[in-house]
Amino acid sequence: MDRFSTLITAWYRQNARELPWRETNNPYFIWLSEIILQQTRVEQGLPYYLKFTKNYPLISDLASAKQDQVLNDWQGLGYYSRARNLQTAAQQVMNDFKGEFPKTYDEIITLKGIGDYTASAISSFAFNESKAVVDGNVYRLLSRYLDIHTPIDSTLGKKEFKLAAEKLIDPKNPAEHNQAIMEMGAMVCTPKNPNCQSCPLIDSCQGFANGSFLELPKKEKKTKVRNRYFHYLLFDDGQSTFINKRGKKDVWEGLYDFPLIEQTEKGELSKENISNWKLENIEVITELKHVLSHQRIYATFWKVDSQIEMSAYQKVKISELGDYPMPQLLIRYLESSANIW
Ligand code: ADE
Repeated sequence: MDRFSTLITAWYRQNARELPWRETNNPYFIWLSEIILQQTRVEQGLPYYLKFTKNYPLISDLASAKQDQVLNDWQGLGYYSRARNLQTAAQQVMNDFKGEFPKTYDEIITLKGIGDYTASAISSFAFNESKAVVDGNVYRLLSRYLDIHTPIDSTLGKKEFKLAAEKLIDPKNPAEHNQAIMEMGAMVCTPKNPNCQSCPLIDSCQGFANGSFLELPKKEKKTKVRNRYFHYLLFDDGQSTFINKRGKKDVWEGLYDFPLIEQTEKGELSKENISNWKLENIEVITELKHVLSHQRIYATFWKVDSQIEMSAYQKVKISELGDYPMPQLLIRYLESSANIW
């Protein structure tokens, strides 16, 4: 379908935003941009892209950096596994590809944290390989344009949309085609109030013709959200407090937080926990709610004026808390007026 590509690339040349990762062929920078932009809006991602390309100008810089430093630079973007995988993949490039970023889709997809979307984006943008990108923007645009009702989160849907995208791509111009289809999804074929009147595809859009575009794309599953009740203990002897590096298999792996008691129910700290932790004279400082994609965290911050030695935790100076990468919930606490420090 030549016409599709001709229409969207013509639109793109007139309307594309100027973004730094579109001005480079460096596959390492393109990869950084794509990982940063997953689940993140361009305005929010841009400063992180500038920070990462400045702090880690070469892939070897990222590979050899301290994990705490990388997580600190990632702080605020969320989905921290993306940052950990980024560093693992940089080390893979150093060890398995002699430090040179691989040049083909088939090699790129072997890197940690890189799936079909990212491998297609890098191989097309940096090396002009004809691989079609399918991200959230593309699902939305194609479901409407072709009036496809198959759920995008089903196995069948994933195959069907990938196939449709591959049929539409212009093999002579894959980089521009891919940028154009994503930009159209982001700027014109938006989730709410799509701007159909300025869409170059309006005459051939089947979802527009059939009036179904606002119901599309379809999803199979509703995301299940779990409520969690966190009680953070803020020890305070005027100088130092305790923190903990979070382990595997839970949110915020590798980030630091305060000693934590998690309860399954809403409400006060239980008598049992108070006595197990030998807590005396504790008082609530503040409560904050933090919403993640699959969890709603209700956090209560407690001031604890005691000298209990907590050997399982790391004692740190309050003035140096900023050196430790922390989840956004705790940054919000530390920056709020309720902060005891
Ligand atoms: N979102 C994901 N990749 C993008 C890109 N290359 N340009 C703009 N937004 C994006």
